[in-house]
Amino acid sequence: MNYIGSKKHLLHFIETTVKKEVGVLDNKIFCDLFAGTGTVGAYFKTKVKKVIANDIEPYAYAIIYNKIKNSTVYDLNKLEHEHKEGFIYKNYALKRNYFSKENAKKIDGLREAIEKSFTCKKINKDEYYYCLASLLFSADRVANTTGVYGSFLKKLKFMAKSKMKFIAQEFEPSDKQHEVYNQNANELIKTIEGDILYLDPPYNHRQYGLNYHILNTIVKNELFKPRGKSGFDDYIRSDYCRTTKVEEALDALIGEAKFKYIFLSYSNDGILDKIAIKKIMSKYGSYSVKEFDHIRYRVSQKSRKGHVVEYLHVVKKDGM
Ligand SMILES: C[S@@+](CC[C@H](N)C(=O)[O-])C[C@H]1O[C@@H](n2cnc3c(N)ncnc32)[C@H](O)[C@@H]1O
Repeated sequence: MNYIGSKKHLLHFIETTVKKEVGVLDNKIFCDLFAGTGTVGAYFKTKVKKVIANDIEPYAYAIIYNKIKNSTVYDLNKLEHEHKEGFIYKNYALKRNYFSKENAKKIDGLREAIEKSFTCKKINKDEYYYCLASLLFSADRVANTTGVYGSFLKKLKFMAKSKMKFIAQEFEPSDKQHEVYNQNANELIKTIEGDILYLDPPYNHRQYGLNYHILNTIVKNELFKPRGKSGFDDYIRSDYCRTTKVEEALDALIGEAKFKYIFLSYSNDGILDKIAIKKIMSKYGSYSVKEFDHIRYRVSQKSRKGHVVEYLHVVKKDGM
């Protein structure tokens, strides 16, 4: 999945910076508080004592549950399903052009089968999220978009025409008890504690709930009246995407955090500039910053040039 703000190309940079600051990792609790697709939390799960991962979006929760907490795989061939002319078919294939009709019917059929199997206890919670995460990634591969779901392409692109394969979403096994949450970071932070807090909030105005709305629709499995050309549902507006709210939200979050080491990923073209972040973070302890140049994920060939500087802001909190 091409996820906006994914840190998959920055893992080594993050690990090196964290290790330099923290030292030994294997007795530490690591929290990935804005986990998205769980790339960072999953990378650290074999290196630390425990990972806590969280994201406010339901689709992201399904993904991180599977990638970080899960320990049970399921044979996807056992999931009996038929093609179904359901909600996705009617609203995002027949109307709108997000999926081919055949693929949409398959998504509806599989979603129904997953729910039924869980309700009648044929699969447990781990297997449920294994199936759901697998469905999300399988559907995303054949989505008729440029990568996000804000709009669809007029004509079905090559991948969207191909038959959707239901591909298992594997995870790295771990014998540790990791935790996953689906909460607003600013609320969750009041209830958790640990050693290393990794923050990767959105850095611009693009709300994830809009950009990935169809993934939420698949996970939530509820009926609603899709709005407008893109078929949006109601969505969560993150304070981190709002110029007027972001400083206050970040300040409150760092103030509340019961973690000694806090790392914040943020790019040079974000809502907050480097100086504003330094001002907030240095209130709470000794502050430093590391830089990394990289090529950002681009939504389309037409979008702005992809060169950005990623900052990793670090604060070692006083009194922890
Ligand atoms: C830059 S992305 C994280 C990307 C992630 N590190 C990865 O590699 O996949 C930011 C994430 O923050 C989540 N988010 C936005 N506001 C939030 C909030 N208030 N609380 C928790 N998560 C939030 C979004 O849903 C999104 O997945």
